[in-house]
Amino acid sequence: MDWGIKNRISRIIKPKTGKTVMLAVDHGYFLGPTTGLEDARATVAPLAPYADAIMLTRGILRNCADPSWNAPIVLRVSGGASILTELSNETITVTMEEALRLNASAVTNSIFIGAPHEKESLVGLSHLVNEGARYGMPVLAVTAVGKDMKRDARYLGLACRIAAEMGAHFVKTYYCEDFEEIAKSCPVPLIVAGGKKTPELEALALTYQAIQKGAVGVDMGRNIFQSEHPAAMIRAVASVVHEKKSVNEAYALYKHLAGNGQPKTAKRQDPAKRAEKSASSPWD
Ligand code: R5P
Repeated sequence: MDWGIKNRISRIIKPKTGKTVMLAVDHGYFLGPTTGLEDARATVAPLAPYADAIMLTRGILRNCADPSWNAPIVLRVSGGASILTELSNETITVTMEEALRLNASAVTNSIFIGAPHEKESLVGLSHLVNEGARYGMPVLAVTAVGKDMKRDARYLGLACRIAAEMGAHFVKTYYCEDFEEIAKSCPVPLIVAGGKKTPELEALALTYQAIQKGAVGVDMGRNIFQSEHPAAMIRAVASVVHEKKSVNEAYALYKHLAGNGQPKTAKRQDPAKRAEKSASSPWD
């Protein structure tokens, strides 16, 4: 692997622990103003100091992120579909030159295995890997599977392995039963998404299980920014990922930090409404 690619990856996956806590806030690229991200700047600013990397689009980066933030950027460079249409019908929307101009530490797109536009998404990934090789830019592939396919070890394992075969430097997928089977058959680092909003204790348990079973970290969105106490939550997640804390220890840390007034982000909806809206995400 080229020096530039290794150097950029080491900004994201911290060499000290070999792990990462990425904050995913790219949801708006097809979901629009997702709950908790309506005011992206207000939500992300208090969390940025605790994130090992932030995954977002160039529009949110330019308009809502402060260039002085230290967190490396994983730039979403695909799009073209909305929640109202066929989600797999996306393409590469951002040039590598633009990613370099924005000082991205990695670029990312989604691959849709078993979906109508599977091929285009895989060709898009290959294009990024080719361009990435030219400029020293790592590529994170995000796995999605067709609407009728279960998000289980069989299909997610298929998607992760294909992503690695196409040359992705690391892969983001979902946690599921038998996750260790996916990790065993994927030769590049695996990062798990948080999925729909669940109680904090459950999200911490998911993080713990994923790390135990071979993930190098999380790229968590809704379970952080839709939490009642997002800054407390990201720090609790980091304690599991980097400090090997147990679920109960991390939950105690969350409660402690929440009790000590860890700043809330943008104005929050009532939890029942949030859960209801979160649960209706097309990813879940
Ligand atoms: C999915 O395609 C996007 O990359 C999201 O960033 C991610 O999957 C959502 O994160 P979470 O499931 O933790 O909200």
